Amino acid sequence: MNPNNTRTISKPLFPETSFQAPNKMGTFNKEKIIEILSDATKQNSIQTLRQKIYELSDQVAAFSADKMGVWNIGSNGDTVRLNQKYLMDDLKQIAESQTLERCKYYLKRLIKGISEHKTSRVNDINLNRWKEYPEIITDSLWILDKRDSSGVHTAGYWGNFIPQIPYQMIQRYTKRDEWVLDTFAGCGTTLIETQRLGRNGIGIELQGKVVETANSLINSEPNKYNTFNKAYQGDSAKIDYKSILKQHNIKTVQLLIMHPPYFDIIKFSDNPNDLSNAKTVDEFLSKMKNIVERATEFLEKGRYFVLVIGDKYSKGEWIPLGFLTMQEVLKTGFTLKSIIVKNFEDTSAKRNQKELWRYRAIVGGFYIFKHEYIFVFKKEAI
Ligand SMILES: C[S@@+](CC[C@H](N)C(=O)[O-])C[C@H]1O[C@@H](n2cnc3c(N)ncnc32)[C@H](O)[C@@H]1O
Repeated sequence: MNPNNTRTISKPLFPETSFQAPNKMGTFNKEKIIEILSDATKQNSIQTLRQKIYELSDQVAAFSADKMGVWNIGSNGDTVRLNQKYLMDDLKQIAESQTLERCKYYLKRLIKGISEHKTSRVNDINLNRWKEYPEIITDSLWILDKRDSSGVHTAGYWGNFIPQIPYQMIQRYTKRDEWVLDTFAGCGTTLIETQRLGRNGIGIELQGKVVETANSLINSEPNKYNTFNKAYQGDSAKIDYKSILKQHNIKTVQLLIMHPPYFDIIKFSDNPNDLSNAKTVDEFLSKMKNIVERATEFLEKGRYFVLVIGDKYSKGEWIPLGFLTMQEVLKTGFTLKSIIVKNFEDTSAKRNQKELWRYRAIVGGFYIFKHEYIFVFKKEAI
């Protein structure tokens, strides 16, 4: 409260410790914020308008948010989300405006951003408040120094990808309650993320033991949105996708993720249908093309297909497995939307031999692999 309007807005309105403040979620929601802001737009003097904004700032600063500074508010179960820091920045901008007209312009813009949840066809990102998603990566070079190990995620399955990959793709390319298919589910990283993010996930994995691990991990992760997430045992080249989808009364999925073996870099099993047992690069590519053709039939038009794959080195030659596989996908009619280059850290075995690898690289005239690719394709609507 500031009866004399003497407070200077340049003083930090956003206390560093405010995330620890008591949670008043029940009494302060989207409607309440809009009501206060609308009231402010009716003020005829800049002083009284600022006064309203200061009062609101005090309430906002007292809120507790999650560790990202995000509140998921909204009384009727809607998915409005407000970022405490960005809301404080907006309030500061309004209060610091020099004219009443400018204050009202920013106020109306803020009201629109909070009241209208404007999204694209393929995700739930509120385009009116797009700045509030700093965690969404939009660059094509990803240097991620740590695997997300929260919840039930584990680095235990050799060859699994970091949860940030499905997390980013699910946020960008699906809406709440939509369906994701992962044809090389492994220990279920994608399916754990679909569950956490309120999407449904179906995974196909060749090895029975790995399927069991995936499903037990999924079952031990809280399912607060009550979605369906399960790994099925089967060969992605043969499994009856149609009947699996039919069990859930769906004909298509809205996102397809594939993280196949990188040919024979890791031999996952002795099963001849395992892509890591392909005898040649050509055989690997032809098997991949077959799986792509079979699975993409069940991807909704206008939606996205994400392929995660790296290259390999064989007999003194760099095999551009990523680009070769990308070419196979392009032959099936997809549009290439992005090629993301993502770093990966050495396995502990390689880390222990770092010096030796450097020596080998210098002698052999090659570079040590430090990256893999995330290819993003779109199935065009026509
Ligand atoms: C690179 S791993 C995927 C890891 C997964 N993204 C994760 O985070 O756990 C590839 C997986 O594909 C499986 N696989 C290989 N050939 C397959 C096939 N024909 N059908 C289904 N799964 C297959 C392997 O058993 C292995 O678990």
